[in-house]
Amino acid sequence: MINDIAEILVSEEKIQELTARIATEITEDYKNSNKKLVAICILKGSLMFTCELIKKIPLPLEIEFMKVSSYGSSTVTSGVINIHLDIKRDDMSEVDFIIIEDIVDSGKTLSHLVRYLKERGAASVKTCTLLDKPDRRMVDFVPDYCGAVIPDKFVVGFGLDYDEKYRNLPFIGVLKPEVYTK
Ligand code: IMP
Ligand code: MG
Repeated sequence: MINDIAEILVSEEKIQELTARIATEITEDYKNSNKKLVAICILKGSLMFTCELIKKIPLPLEIEFMKVSSYGSSTVTSGVINIHLDIKRDDMSEVDFIIIEDIVDSGKTLSHLVRYLKERGAASVKTCTLLDKPDRRMVDFVPDYCGAVIPDKFVVGFGLDYDEKYRNLPFIGVLKPEVYTK
């Protein structure tokens, strides 16, 4: 697996630093809210990021899961967002949602989900991503919380996959282009 990685972009140590910083920002922003704080882990990519982040937030917090897809096994977005697993709640107007994503690319997934949850009556919806590739944006979207801005390279590890593999790498690395062009 490691032989398919061209370079390490975000080390395990750096991931700790970024998640700690975002957790502090979120804690500051929500500590006085009188709503229920709910983190939505977007499966499967943000599994590790969600774990690392929420254990650093010392506020009452609930966890939900959603599964969406915009990608097949290619490295280019299809632009069509499918919701495969949705949240079921009857208290939407009492909830401050934070959507937790691994990476923002075209911006279509998160802008779609924000709109969707607001339409369902959420009290508030914010977005949090570990990584952002703003060079690839196709819609006007800026995440509320962001770990690091990265160049337009395809990355894997710490939850991020290529064709369902590499999610278990403990760091984030750039995948060698020959792995997905062969
Ligand atoms: P968006 O809707 O184009 O912003 O797509 C975001 C989703 O694309 C992420 O949740 C990832 O699943 C996937 N994605 C985008 N860039 C990468 C990457 O470099 N590595 C792995 N997955 C990526
Ligand atoms: Mg994803």
